[in-house]
Parts: sequence; C-alpha cells; structure tokens
Amino acid sequence: MTEVNKKKRFDLLKSAGLDPNKIPQHIAIIMDGNGRWAQNRGEDRVFGHLNGVESVRAVVESALQVGVRYLTLYAFSTENWSRPKEEVAALMNLLVTTLNQETDDLNGKGVRLRTIGDLSALPDNCQKQLETTEKAETKNVSLDLILALNYSAKWEITEAVKGIIRDGVKEEEINIDKFETYLQTKGLPDPELMIRTSGERRISNFMLWQLAYAEFHFTSVLWPDFRREHFLAAIHDFQNRERRFGGVSQQTVK
Ligand code: IPE
Ligand code: IPE
Ligand code: MG
Repeated sequence: MTEVNKKKRFDLLKSAGLDPNKIPQHIAIIMDGNGRWAQNRGEDRVFGHLNGVESVRAVVESALQVGVRYLTLYAFSTENWSRPKEEVAALMNLLVTTLNQETDDLNGKGVRLRTIGDLSALPDNCQKQLETTEKAETKNVSLDLILALNYSAKWEITEAVKGIIRDGVKEEEINIDKFETYLQTKGLPDPELMIRTSGERRISNFMLWQLAYAEFHFTSVLWPDFRREHFLAAIHDFQNRERRFGGVSQQTVK
C-alpha cells in the first residue's frame, strides 16, 4: 500500500473513532434477516435476498477501506436445504448472477474469492461459476472473501476426522495445528470478530472450531439494511472488549 493510501486509511479510521492498530484481521458474518426484511415490506422472502447483495457490496468495500484481511460470509448452511425449493433455487441463481457480474470488479479491487463448504452438492452452474471466479487471477490481493456455502461446522469437523483416518495419521501425530490442516479453513487465521445480524443470538452451526475465542457482536439490524456504519460500529464494539484468553483482566493487574 502506498504511503498516501496508508495515510488515507489512518485518517478514515481516526475519524470513525477506531484504533488503526486494532483492526481485526479476520471478520466472520452470519448474514441474517433477509426474509423478515422482505416480509416487513409485504414482499416475498426472495426480495430480501436480492437486497442483501447490496449489503455484501457495502461490507466488502468497507473491509477493503479499513484493512480487514479476511472476510467470511455465511451464505448457505447445510440446514438451509430445508427451505422451500423455490427459495433455494433463487439463492443459487442469485449467487451465480452476482458472481458473474462482480468477478472483474472484485479482482480489480484486490479481492480474492475462496469458499468453505461442500460445493459438490450445489447445482452445476453454481459450481462452474465458483470455479471461474476462484480461478480468476487477483493481482495485489488485499482481501480474501470467503463464502461459506453448503457449510456447517459439524460437517466440517466430521470431514476432518475422516481425512485424518484416510491418511492414516498416527495418534501421537495429532495435535491442534495438525487437526486444523484438515479443516476447510486450512491456512486461514481464526476470526477475531463474529457479527450476526437480525437479533438472533446463536451461531447456527457456523465455524464452531474457529470461533473458539472470537468476540461476538449481535445487532438487531436486518441484513439488507446492514451498511458501512454498522460494520464500523461492530469493529468499534470489538475494540472496546478486553480479550483475556484465560488470563486475568489488565484492570486487576497491579
Ligand atoms: C439470511 O436471511 C439468508 C440466508 C440464510 C441464506 P434469512 O433468509 O434467514 O432471513 P430470516 O431469518 O428468515 O429473516
Ligand atoms: C444461518 O441463518 C445461515 C446463514 C446465514 C447462511 P439461518 O437463518 O438459516 O439460521 P437459523 O435457522 O435462524 O438458526
Ligand atoms: Mg434466518
């Protein structure tokens, strides 16, 4: 990053009341509330998903601006197959059209796409589009955008165990670092901050392993209304937490 851009970012963070030295490296978001947002307007649930795309844009843009390095978005859980088939189809189509439209722009901005989850169960056109977007070359990567698709943490952990057995890993070779190489998030740092919109306070089978020590920020804002100000507010909240990691509070250390 050029000195001018660094200065710009510094000024932006300062004006937002944020500490430039305490920006989470990895933020994970459970994008929730699309259906309620649409229903509040007397519209079909799918209308909420369509409008949720604008929030994704805003969050990606904001993550780039503030210098978040990894952004994981929970887009479709293994449990979401239980929704009406029209809604599932609409979500899959939205994924394809959005990625198709945005790939060049994302790459141009230094955003690289990655996925976690079992893509093999997604419709063929979805799998193809994801492959195209993931393969598209991103020069000067500033942000890894990780989409969780047909993802659930219990599935991920179970798959990791299967992989370990398949590879004949010996009991004495297994430790936390080794186990993590079998997770979908291999090579990624754990999220320091997890945001869930729409007022629900649960993690719905999302990143159970990786969120072990994350700070959680819950907001009642519905996903299609979520914008830069809400994203910055979540980071602000994060910066005011004291992360103890099992130690004692700095306030009580004399
Ligand atoms: C989140 O919004 C989008 C997905 C899970 C794909 P919802 O569709 O869950 O919205 P609500 O929770 O029904 O309002
Ligand atoms: C979690 O939201 C999954 C995603 C955001 C993709 P849901 O709306 O599916 O979760 P529950 O059903 O309220 O737990
Ligand atoms: Mg929901």
